[in-house]
Amino acid sequence: MVAQGRVVRGAALAATLVLGVSACGSSDSGSGASGQTQAALEGVGPITLVTGKDTSGNLQNQVNGWNQLHPDQQVKIIELPENADEQRQQMVQNATTKSDAYTVLNLDVIWTAEFAANQWVEALPESEFPLDKLIPATVETGKYFNKFYAVPTTSDGGLLYYRKDLLDAAGVKAPTTWSELEAACAKVVPANPGLSCYAGQFEKYEGLTVNFSEAVNSAGGTVVGDDGKPNVNTAEAKKGLDFLVQGVKSGEIPQKARTFKEEEGRRAFQAGELLFHRQWPYQYAKAEATDGSSQVAGKFAVAPLPGLDGPGASTLGGHNYAISKFAKNKKSALDFIKYMVDEKQQRENLEKTSLAPTWSSLYDDPALVQKFPYLTELKKSIDKAKKRPAVVKYQEVSSAIQEAAYGAMAGTTTSEDALKSLQSKLEELTKQ
Ligand code: GLC
Repeated sequence: MVAQGRVVRGAALAATLVLGVSACGSSDSGSGASGQTQAALEGVGPITLVTGKDTSGNLQNQVNGWNQLHPDQQVKIIELPENADEQRQQMVQNATTKSDAYTVLNLDVIWTAEFAANQWVEALPESEFPLDKLIPATVETGKYFNKFYAVPTTSDGGLLYYRKDLLDAAGVKAPTTWSELEAACAKVVPANPGLSCYAGQFEKYEGLTVNFSEAVNSAGGTVVGDDGKPNVNTAEAKKGLDFLVQGVKSGEIPQKARTFKEEEGRRAFQAGELLFHRQWPYQYAKAEATDGSSQVAGKFAVAPLPGLDGPGASTLGGHNYAISKFAKNKKSALDFIKYMVDEKQQRENLEKTSLAPTWSSLYDDPALVQKFPYLTELKKSIDKAKKRPAVVKYQEVSSAIQEAAYGAMAGTTTSEDALKSLQSKLEELTKQ
């Protein structure tokens, strides 16, 4: 699993592209960040937690728990937009102006390389956190060149939500391949006015990168390999992209799904408008709600993502807490992160929100598995999930992917042309 570390020397570190930093196996489990880091994490007092929109609804509760215990170290939540790209933009802006307004940053797993390479976040002492209790793949996402910068507090893996009531009534099993999914739609959708076959996150933003990568990986292709080399101009990648493109053409993917981020899709699924929905675990609790907000409570189930010839592959998602270099009260920030990553918080958060924990043992806990039957599948999906490239210029890589996938799905370019042009853009972005 050890990927090759490959560094491209550029004029400025900010412009440097670093590949393959997912290298595992750091033996540096003691003080990953040396005495220098320990000295930097000082200061006790109020702090902020900067995060994307809390679509799960339990974050303020968790923070209240800390605030009650720490009246002099109050944590104030600063909520950024729901869209991952917009969250990153605001965090980057805060860092480049060296503002102390943001203390703890809830970083998407894809941003570690950029924030670490630019020295916008502190290296953290590994021994302060229960890293051996967390799913190893999640811990790797917090590392950059074997130093540890961001503590995994929630993981994420893609799941196929489906209307079990409608499939059961039609005598159809949950699909494990795309053709089974299409056959199920052909059978069930025409008899149910207002129902569409399939949606995922297809708006032009990070979610589309995730969905495109999953389609390519689920057809046996690769976007950027572990060797750091892009490889999208292939028959496999085309089959993956064509699953999405053909879906739009045939109407299996409704036109309006091309404007869906996570929340728009969730609302459509909850309104009973979708037979199948590719979505993260957080949707489970919301769609199960019995307060009238969901039309599908008790009517849906969750399966692994389907693929071309068998089960597909999820993209690894999730979020890690890091400490801004420019913040005050870093000792409070460190202690707050320890509180948030603790098993108790993760258990309660899972129970309340169905967000995927990073704490391994929670996936095997019988009471939790009974409440969230998909946990066993989810753990497998996270364990073998494909990482997005761990590169400093990740946003440019992702934008190129979004451009290609969006254009092909809109029909403004063919899959062949989109992939050919994507391959050359990615080669340019990743060249030595
Ligand atoms: C989820 C995932 C994150 C991903 C984002 C895309 O929040 O946890 O990793 O980048 O969705 O929309």
